[in-house]
Amino acid sequence: MAHEWDATTYDRLPLPHERWGRRTLARLALTGTETVLDAGAGTGRDTVALLEALPDGRVIALDGSEAMLAALLERLSDRPDLRDRLTVVRADLSAPLPLTEQVDAVFSVATFHWIPDHEALFANLAAVLRPGGQLVFDCGGHGNIAAVEAVIGKLVTDRPAVWPFATAQETAARLTAAGFVDVVTSLDPDPTRIDDPDVLRSFLETIILGADLLRLPEDERAGFVHAVAERLPEPVIDYVRLTGSARRAG
Ligand SMILES: C[S@@+](CC[C@H](N)C(=O)[O-])C[C@H]1O[C@@H](n2cnc3c(N)ncnc32)[C@H](O)[C@@H]1O
Repeated sequence: MAHEWDATTYDRLPLPHERWGRRTLARLALTGTETVLDAGAGTGRDTVALLEALPDGRVIALDGSEAMLAALLERLSDRPDLRDRLTVVRADLSAPLPLTEQVDAVFSVATFHWIPDHEALFANLAAVLRPGGQLVFDCGGHGNIAAVEAVIGKLVTDRPAVWPFATAQETAARLTAAGFVDVVTSLDPDPTRIDDPDVLRSFLETIILGADLLRLPEDERAGFVHAVAERLPEPVIDYVRLTGSARRAG
């Protein structure tokens, strides 16, 4: 299962994820009646947008983090109109998914690179997607945050691999092998500049270094975040986005 997240800080940060969410949603063709799985829904920003785009449809918000799902439910606490059409599931995307129905579409933003085995991930998603159903996603791809990882690599010896940043070609091949058709994948640099040093450190701590920090004693974590931020060649997170769309063979 995924590590836990600081959902409150996550939601306060200036997230490029908002933009990635909007453009991923724009690639989903909806009539408004579908059931959509938000895979790695986090604190539910895109879950709300999906529910609003589905006046007669439903959303299943799935995530491995209890804290993220608690924040998602809090976000929807004053929206009973949307809450009624939402199912929340805590589950691991690395394992067969405990859904009781097949969905019309799978939507995912900034999550797939947290799943080490993409063959298993795509098989798990295909199993809950109806034949002909759509998959649209965004995640970190090959070369993502290479400058940040180079800095971490200088500070940590024997660091285990954290993210499987895949290429567009290998992702297309894995999707095809998992039973998807009309596969389109792309890899695009999307560097994000964060000039405020406090925000940069918070961003690194909350979004990027979570798994690395868990391997350190608590009293060394703040120093590690400072060390990474100070050593970056410029205050830029060198994101490279892997995006894709496909349909489950019908
Ligand atoms: C960067 S957040 C993205 C959240 C949201 N989609 C957004 O764009 O703000 C990544 C999310 O993936 C979830 N996640 C990571 N590994 C997972 C796994 N194996 N199973 C389920 N969820 C996972 C995390 O808990 C986290 O909420």
